[in-house]
Amino acid sequence: MKTNISMHSQLMDLLRAYWNIAINCLQWGDTGKGKFVDLITYWADVIVRGRGGANAGHSVLLGDEEYVFHLIPSSILHDIDGKVSIIGNGVAVDPRILCDELALLKAKNQSYNNFMLALNAKLTLPTQIVRDRIVDKAGGKVVIGTTGRGIGPTYSDHALRIGLEINDLLNPDILAKNVRNNVTYSLKVLQGYDPEIIKDVMHHEHLSRGLYYHPKKIFDVDSIITRYLQFGEELAEFIQDTDSFVQAAVGRRKILLEGSQGALLDVDNGTRPYVTGTSTIVDGLAIGAGFNLHKHHVDLALGVVKFPYMTRVGSGPFPTEFGDRMSEEWCRDATQEKDLEQFATASTNDINEFSQGGAIRRLGREFGATTRRPRRTGWLDLPLLRYAMRWGSENVILTKPDVLDTCEQIKICTSYIYDGPDYRVGTRVLTKGTSLREATPMACVLEHCKPVYEILPGWQRSIRGIRHFQDLPPQLISVLNFVGAEAGIKPKMISVGPAAEETIIV
Ligand code: GDP
Ligand code: IMO
Ligand code: MG
Repeated sequence: MKTNISMHSQLMDLLRAYWNIAINCLQWGDTGKGKFVDLITYWADVIVRGRGGANAGHSVLLGDEEYVFHLIPSSILHDIDGKVSIIGNGVAVDPRILCDELALLKAKNQSYNNFMLALNAKLTLPTQIVRDRIVDKAGGKVVIGTTGRGIGPTYSDHALRIGLEINDLLNPDILAKNVRNNVTYSLKVLQGYDPEIIKDVMHHEHLSRGLYYHPKKIFDVDSIITRYLQFGEELAEFIQDTDSFVQAAVGRRKILLEGSQGALLDVDNGTRPYVTGTSTIVDGLAIGAGFNLHKHHVDLALGVVKFPYMTRVGSGPFPTEFGDRMSEEWCRDATQEKDLEQFATASTNDINEFSQGGAIRRLGREFGATTRRPRRTGWLDLPLLRYAMRWGSENVILTKPDVLDTCEQIKICTSYIYDGPDYRVGTRVLTKGTSLREATPMACVLEHCKPVYEILPGWQRSIRGIRHFQDLPPQLISVLNFVGAEAGIKPKMISVGPAAEETIIV
């Protein structure tokens, strides 16, 4: 690891008292969980991903090289130091993507001798990827703007008791029976959709370009079974009862839980219905990692918060978005190349917010690590952060303030004014003009919330080289103090660049 010795000793001082630490995001994902899992792996012995699937994209910088992990924990580059990296029971695993990730590590001479895969993790099938892609674009219109990785259908089939698990890969007869069962159900779901669109989707690269397609039956069941048995052979040596391994490790070895997505994408508590298919908050993560919450607890939950701007990928309301609807539509349709061309010379101080948001996207390299979609950008939203804190703790890691180094003004959304039709929230009625200090997460409310801003001066100098809190510009410290007091957060680390060493331990 390239980080300096003084930072490592500060990190160990900060974390010494803990046994079980979780890192998850308090926004809509992509806040830098990968960077911090990689960094905090220095402290940990066992690292477990507990939720989500290949919808996640976690970036880790190793020297000048960027690795993006979708399924394998972001700790894997420290396998050589004996760190155990586990995909836990709550993860939706597409074996094609997992095998590709392992092959990439092998090609780069990175070891994965201590990698384990939960035998009861959820197995994503081609049927689920097709359904995700077709149903989310029903009638040609994007509904949620999913990543198209089959996440929603994998978890919904699990709840319907027609899902498969990783261990099925090791048992040909069970696999065949369960695949057939799932295909029967999936064909019913796909009835009524245009066969030409289905054929098109079945030829997508994520579906091995037509490998599983049958011109008459849609799914070539034998081909699915054959390919999945091959995956099973490739993965067999890693498949284990990781729940018992993790439970035996609790209290004996330092455990780091790697979250995916973010609290605002949580299926139960996020900005519904624009959420992912599983629980992404700390408790969901811990259960998905194999914890028994009656006996084991996370003693430090570090919530990662992009600061003082934020991003969102996919559809759904975003009250502080630079350029509002125009930005949402642009980011839905544009490619990374087109976006970079459009905003090549845009400034972070542009009075046109759509351009300002484009400049921030360019400087923050805000393009989906999984889908390459331009991420929507907007100012830090405290009503949403206060809401997300219900599921997190005050201990946070703040990331990416360096992206706003050139901003003359920083705007922080402190509350909303509701501007929609009367809406009942339990015993309360929201009417036009109602002020909200904490967000109400339902999309039908959020889409009518107008942000109220506090404007603070920017620091207007580069902070990437700073390693000590006291060296931060006073304007940035004022913004930190303001947000800390308003949202009740206590930053434990501040990230000033993508590399592990670009971190200030507070
Ligand atoms: P994750 O999904 O939460 O792991 O985050 P992603 O990897 O999807 O996106 C975060 C991006 O920001 C990655 O490209 C990181 O390398 C980068 N990053 C992380 N922290 C910082 C930071 O403090 N400053 C800058 N400029 N980039 C950062
Ligand atoms: P990491 O772990 C950002 C979003 C999608 C979409 C919604 C549902 O890298 O932070 P899904 O494919 O999960 O059914 O899509 O959730 N989404 C993410 N956004 N970061 C992620 O992961 C995400 N995973 C899912 O864009 O809006
Ligand atoms: Mg990401």
